[in-house]
Amino acid sequence: MITDAIRKEARDLQEKLTDHSYRYHVLDDPVIDDETYDLMLKRLVEIEDLHPELSTPDSPTRRIGAPPLSDFKSAAHSIPMLSLDNGFNDEDITAFHDRNVKTLGDQLREVGKLLYTAEPKLDGVAVELTYENGVLVMATTRGDGRTGEVITDNIRTIDRVPLRLRTSDLPMPELLEVRGEVIINSDDFIRLNQTRINRGEPPFANPRNAAAGSLRQLDSKITAKRPLDIFVYGTGLCRGIEFTSQSHMLECLERFGFPVNLHIQRTIGLKEVLEAYKDLQTLRPDLDYEIDGMVIKVDDLAFQQALGEKIKSPRWAIAYKFPATTKTTRINEIIIQVGRTGTLTPVALLEPVSIGGVTVSRATLHNADEIERKDIRVHDKALVTRAGDVIPKVVKVFPSERKGDEIVFRMPETCPVCDSHVRKLEDEAAVKCINAACQAQLKERIRHFVSKKGLDVDGLGKKIVVQLVEEGMLKSFADIFTLDETALASLDRMGEKSAANLVKAIDAAKNVSLPRFIFALGIDHTGENAARLLAKTFPGLPGLMDADSLTLSSIHGMGEKTASAVTRFFAVKENISLIHDMEKAGLKITNDLYNEKPKTLSDHVFFNKTLVLTGTLEQFKRAEAKERLLAVGAKVTGSVSKKTDYLLAGRDAGSKLKKAQALGIVILDETRFLEMMGE
Ligand code: IVH
Repeated sequence: MITDAIRKEARDLQEKLTDHSYRYHVLDDPVIDDETYDLMLKRLVEIEDLHPELSTPDSPTRRIGAPPLSDFKSAAHSIPMLSLDNGFNDEDITAFHDRNVKTLGDQLREVGKLLYTAEPKLDGVAVELTYENGVLVMATTRGDGRTGEVITDNIRTIDRVPLRLRTSDLPMPELLEVRGEVIINSDDFIRLNQTRINRGEPPFANPRNAAAGSLRQLDSKITAKRPLDIFVYGTGLCRGIEFTSQSHMLECLERFGFPVNLHIQRTIGLKEVLEAYKDLQTLRPDLDYEIDGMVIKVDDLAFQQALGEKIKSPRWAIAYKFPATTKTTRINEIIIQVGRTGTLTPVALLEPVSIGGVTVSRATLHNADEIERKDIRVHDKALVTRAGDVIPKVVKVFPSERKGDEIVFRMPETCPVCDSHVRKLEDEAAVKCINAACQAQLKERIRHFVSKKGLDVDGLGKKIVVQLVEEGMLKSFADIFTLDETALASLDRMGEKSAANLVKAIDAAKNVSLPRFIFALGIDHTGENAARLLAKTFPGLPGLMDADSLTLSSIHGMGEKTASAVTRFFAVKENISLIHDMEKAGLKITNDLYNEKPKTLSDHVFFNKTLVLTGTLEQFKRAEAKERLLAVGAKVTGSVSKKTDYLLAGRDAGSKLKKAQALGIVILDETRFLEMMGE
């Protein structure tokens, strides 16, 4: 027996949760915190478990996943899902426009200019979502364009897909078929693959494959764990609503609660379309999802109808593709580069090819295991990719096109720079040169030592370091502190004034904090965070130098690899005498991070303060920041109000940042936040 009170409680919870989820995921403007949301959801799950008939198809509990299917049903699309013709240059797009103008003839002359929308061409999986009387009842893949697979349970797990349309200011359509692209964001993709690698599962080749694989799960509980996202860009069959233009349709879809891409330009002429393409190309490396071009659509739906369709693609739209980021070329040679920490990296020297307007003549091959796995040989024909500012990579080679002159690559047994024996560490793919005096390492090690995050010596740039090492003036870090002003001034491109400035900068760098110094040493697996953690644990260098790897790995947050790399580093006699030499030359290491006496909670700057966290944080997750804040007695809430003391704003902070600025609330970036946390 279901009482009216339970029925009402379930309905209330469903409505509230739907609203909060929309505010959080689509508007990025939540009004409650995650815990409250989770508690409400838990209660709703409880009620629906007891009374399954209350679990409506649009209940937020459906996002968790449904019982597994035995196979996918197929369903025909009411209106075929077409593909797009491609254009590759401005001429192709101008020809597309001229053809449209010609076909529309008199019809166009009445209104004047032909307008378009220009939309990022998302590189994901096309889907169709069917809403009957406002409720999501079915979702399908594009399939062959006429028939797709039914993936409703999987689509329901995507937080930004409305399970019910929001229609406060629009009449509820009887039928609405919405089309869009399911994607995985680049950061989420990297994390997903890392987890798979850690579990011994094969990584996905790219975000699109990962999205497709996730939608093809018969068990939607697995899909629910995948970081799927969606943008919608069109409609299929509709009853009870009519759109006048593509831009009007997008606006309605937004009002129905769908995520519509932010970078769509609406109602623009040909000239602006061509500019929009250039702008989008510039924007592309900064986007956190993959796009492979721009879709240009005639805006007016009456014009779209007049232009009509071909068998596979409409005449009213075209995809203006970005230049390919992959090309085939030949591997002429494989050379070895020696990095700062002594790692030997094989690099393919390629027959130069232009990829996306940049000439590529080398690509990293990572390590010997990778070469073996991909069976890469010298003289092979290879598929090379370059994405944004990422180092070019060899994706694969074509064994079927071998001519017989290919050479299997072997890692050298000696370092190509200093000729000393190399070794392969257990559990690591890398082969290393362990001679600390190796010239290749010295240049790189010194550059790292004096870099911004290290000792931060102004004026000791790459070129000067190379010159000093090659002239024999720098044989180790310690030599930096005894560099002679007169000798410096005699170097190429270095006047007396710059020499004096450099000596001054070196003097200033002699007072260094422990975390910076640890980082500067360039120990394997020891970045800024690990260095900070070590400095928090040890009052000074002597304690750290004596610590064994067990002690180090028992530090909360310290990885095992770091722990053994640090002990390995300080076990080398030469490294210890190097540090002593530096101290003799005047190096002074201080440590503010180590607190002998833990302060009481109420001393902390964030004690009793209210903070809101927003945007993407680089160095830690929001949940982690929140945990640490709660530990020092702060309150963390989901929305900005007059009661908020601080806003911690990460990358791409949106509406909360604006609101905080308007209210005059103190805004912290990550660095400032960590400083105030005392880290
Ligand atoms: S419109 C008839 N708009 O590109 C119109 N498609 O090659 C066809 N796509 O299957 C779809 N972003 O998966 C459209 N803003 C966008 C798009 C987009 C990505 C994909 C979609 C489609 C394929 C067509």
